[in-house]
Amino acid sequence: MKKALITGITGQDGSYLSELLIAKGYEVYGLVRRTSAGVPDVIENLERTSKLTLVDGNLRDLGTIRNALDKIKPDEIYNLAAQSHVGVSFNIPDETWEINYYGLGRVVNEAVKANKNIRIYQASTSEMFGSTSPPQNEDSPFNPVSPYAESKTKAHQDFIRGFRERYGIFACSGILFNHESPRRGKQFVTRKITRGLARIKLGNKEPLRLGNLESRRDWGFARDYVEAMHLILSHKKPDDYVIATGVSHSVRDFVKAAAEALDIDIIWEGAGSKEKGINKLTGDVVIEIDEKFYRPREVGDLVGDASKARKILGWKPEVSFAELVKMMIKADYEELSRYLKK
Ligand code: NAP
Ligand code: GDD
Repeated sequence: MKKALITGITGQDGSYLSELLIAKGYEVYGLVRRTSAGVPDVIENLERTSKLTLVDGNLRDLGTIRNALDKIKPDEIYNLAAQSHVGVSFNIPDETWEINYYGLGRVVNEAVKANKNIRIYQASTSEMFGSTSPPQNEDSPFNPVSPYAESKTKAHQDFIRGFRERYGIFACSGILFNHESPRRGKQFVTRKITRGLARIKLGNKEPLRLGNLESRRDWGFARDYVEAMHLILSHKKPDDYVIATGVSHSVRDFVKAAAEALDIDIIWEGAGSKEKGINKLTGDVVIEIDEKFYRPREVGDLVGDASKARKILGWKPEVSFAELVKMMIKADYEELSRYLKK
C-alpha cells in the first residue's frame, strides 16, 4: 500500500485530496500545525474513523518535518501548505516567504535525504504568471507581482525544477489556476460572495463589501483539480503542468451568477469606488466597494491553457463555471439557513 504525506491537509485542497487518495487505497498522513480553530470536521471525521493519520508539524519547523518523514516513510509528498492569501501577503511578506519558499526547501531537502526515489508534488500557482498576458501555459514567462507569487515562483524554480534538473529528483509542480468549492476559505472572493449573498437572501441588511470587481480569473472546481495532482505524481516522468478550465470570468460576473442563483436581480449605479449594486426588487444596497480590499498590485486576467495536461495526463475539468457557482450558493444557503434558525 502506497503512503502519502499531505501538508496543508486542513485546507480546501487537502480535504479533497485526502478523500481521493483514501479512495484509491493509499495510507494517508497529514501534517497539521496547531491553531485555535483546530482541524475542520471533514478531516476530524476521517481521522476518527482511522482513514487517515495526523502528525503534528509546521513548515517553519525543520525538526517536525524530519520526524514526520522518519515516522511515516512516505512514497509521495503533496506539499499544499502555504500562506495562500495573495492580498494578505503584501502585509506579511516575511511569513509568506518563510512558509512558501523556505518551507518547501525544508520539505524537499529532508525528503530527498530520507528517500531519493520519493515523489514530490508542489502546489504552484497561476499567480506566478502575474502580469503575463493570457492565455498562459507551461512556456509562458513568470512575472509575479505579489510577495505570495514571488515566493511561489522562486520555490518552484529552486526546489522543484531546480532539484529535478540538477539531481534527477521526481519533483513536479501543478501550476493550478483558481479552484473553488463549498470548502473554499471564507476570505477568498468566491466564497465571500456566496456566503454574503446567501446571508442577504436570508434577510441580512448589511451590504457585501468587495474590492476590484473587474479582475478576471479562470475558476474551476477544487475536486477536479486534486485529481490532476494525483495524475501528475503518477505519471512515469516528472514534469510541470498547467491545470485550468481555459475560460475566465470577472468578479462582477461571479456576483451576477451568484445573485441569479438566489433570484436576486442586481442593478449597478455609480462608478469606481462609489459603485453600488442594488436589489432591483427591494431597493436595498447589496454590494458596496471598499478600497481596503484593493491590492497594491493586481493581476488583471488569468486564463490557463491546460492542453499539455489534457494530452499527456488525460485530465479535463468536469464542472462548469455556472455549475460551480450554483453548487457554492446551494451549500452556503443551506448551511446559513440552519445556523440562522438556531
Ligand atoms: P488553504 O485552504 O489556504 O490551505 C492552506 C493550508 O496550509 C492549510 O491547511 C494551512 O493550515 C496550511 N499551512 C499554512 N501555514 C502552514 C505552516 N506553517 N505549516 C503547516 N501548514 C501550514 O489553501 P488551498 O486553497 O487548499 O490551496 C492549497 C495549496 O495550493 C496552497 O499552497 C495554495 O497556495 C496553492 N494554490 C491554490 C489555488 C486555489 O485556487 N485554491 C490555486 C493555485 C495554488 P491551517 O489550517 O493551520 O491554517
Ligand atoms: N479576497 C478577496 N476579497 N478578493 C477580492 C475581493 C475581496 O473582497 N474583491 C475583489 N477581489 C478580487 C481580488 O483583488 C482578485 O483579483 C480576485 O478577486 C481573486 O481574489 P482571491 O479570491 O483572493 O484569489 P486570488 O486569485 O488572489 O488567489 C487565489 O488563487 C491563486 C491562483 O491563481 C488563491 O487561492 C491563491 O492561493 C492561488 O495561488
